[in-house]
Amino acid sequence: MNAKVLIVGCGDIGRRVGQLLLAAGHEVTGLVRSEESSAPLAGVGIRPLVADLNDPEELQNLPVAGALVFYFAPPPGGGITDPKVRNFCAAATGAKAPKRLVYISTSGVYGDCGGALVTEETPANPQTSRAKRRYDAEQALRQWGEAQGVEVVILRVTGIYGPGRIPVFRLQDGHPLLCLEESPPTNRIHADDLAQVCVAAAEKGAAGEIFNVSDGHPSTMTEYFLAIAEQVGLPRPPLISMAEAKEVMTPLMLSYLTESRRMDNSRMLNRLGVRLRYPTLAEGLKASLEQE
Ligand SMILES: NC(=O)c1ccc[n+]([C@@H]2O[C@H](COP(=O)([O-])OP(=O)(O)OC[C@H]3O[C@@H](n4cnc5c(N)ncnc54)[C@H](OP(=O)(O)O)[C@@H]3O)[C@@H](O)[C@H]2O)c1
Repeated sequence: MNAKVLIVGCGDIGRRVGQLLLAAGHEVTGLVRSEESSAPLAGVGIRPLVADLNDPEELQNLPVAGALVFYFAPPPGGGITDPKVRNFCAAATGAKAPKRLVYISTSGVYGDCGGALVTEETPANPQTSRAKRRYDAEQALRQWGEAQGVEVVILRVTGIYGPGRIPVFRLQDGHPLLCLEESPPTNRIHADDLAQVCVAAAEKGAAGEIFNVSDGHPSTMTEYFLAIAEQVGLPRPPLISMAEAKEVMTPLMLSYLTESRRMDNSRMLNRLGVRLRYPTLAEGLKASLEQE
């Protein structure tokens, strides 16, 4: 792999992927929306490109022809489609089409699975608007890939944690947590492990292939927050029932607590040959807090 690389939506994960690729000798361009977000890219050697994916006019001269693209920009905050992905696809056709694209989607596209083990063969069943937007982006990219001869690889990523992304503030604010008995299984991946999975998917994933991305150790959201409280020395927040949670938690938080899945990551490990640096939350959390 010695391709020209464009990372569309070059934020936290994009910078991590970019740094891995720079170290391997690639030229890396990172697209962001704001001038403010371009400074941290230049600081690590990624060439910044500022353009708004919402504006097709700004996407006319993207350096994508024959490139390796990582598409990490999130869908918009509302609706059930992803116009940004569609604008990108429209700007990268014919002679401008890239060779390959790796897309970060979410495990949310599987919907509620009642705590069952979820493989890549599990049918997508997006239920929330957020998940529908993601699934729309997946579908748009797959159709575009088939029409334009672009090898599209989709990563269905679970909750990302890592340095700078540990929600200590929620504990400091004293928000209650759902009691352990009613808290459903959730799945996570450390940001550095996600970055190495993205690179491995670019090297080894096949056109049209989907990979679940998680550390393979599901635990509940409540266990996650209690582990953080213990590591940073904060008091345990009050634990409440689901009936009480419905009264006091935000709809967003409740939507996370009413979907449950156990993600199977064996395709990621076996096909991509990934060796996780942080296979358990305990290891990843300790390392993340030390680096903050
Ligand atoms: N949080 C989780 O647990 C989780 C789980 C699964 C998947 N994901 C997804 O993983 C992906 C990568 O996450 P991340 O943490 O690296 O995200 P991030 O740090 O927020 O980076 C997102 C990037 O997208 C850019 N962007 C957003 N809208 C844009 C637009 N209209 N035009 C151009 N650029 C735009 C942002 O640029 P500006 O900074 O200039 O706005 C930023 O560089 C995201 O799609 C995220 O939703 C997250």
